[in-house]
Amino acid sequence: MNTLENVKLINLPKIADDRGNLSIIESVKNIPFTMKRVHWIYDVPGGIDRGGHAFVENEEFIVALSGSFDVLLDDGKEKKVISLKRSYYGLYIPNGIWRVMNDFSTNALALVLSSNDYSDDDYILDYEEFKKWRAAR
Ligand code: TYD
Repeated sequence: MNTLENVKLINLPKIADDRGNLSIIESVKNIPFTMKRVHWIYDVPGGIDRGGHAFVENEEFIVALSGSFDVLLDDGKEKKVISLKRSYYGLYIPNGIWRVMNDFSTNALALVLSSNDYSDDDYILDYEEFKKWRAAR
């Protein structure tokens, strides 16, 4: 079972250029899984929390493509907050970790890469259920 030790901030390649910068994510090379799905979160109203859940199987990699936001992480024992604010690094979240995204800046754009196809069944949406599920492992 993953703990907060398995959550990783990963620096991405950055091709700096007078014409503007370019960064890259390649499956397995830059992130520790093969990406199957991409979604992005944008136009988040001020003060809103998103993503209060954990996944049983799915792994994620989250990048602040624009603006900034915080990711609150919880493995059932410990908690920590990681701020994402640059597009040349991202946060790897393995499965089994509760996470909440909040404190979105104006125009924040969160890119989320997933290892698995979308599945309702993979979500643990209730925090008390998450705590019980972790304790049983
Ligand atoms: P959710 O994962 O809860 O978003 P967040 O973690 O940012 O709060 O998804 C919000 C809604 O979008 C939910 O009804 C499920 C739906 N959804 C899909 O249909 N496919 C997807 O790939 C994702 C990520 C979400």
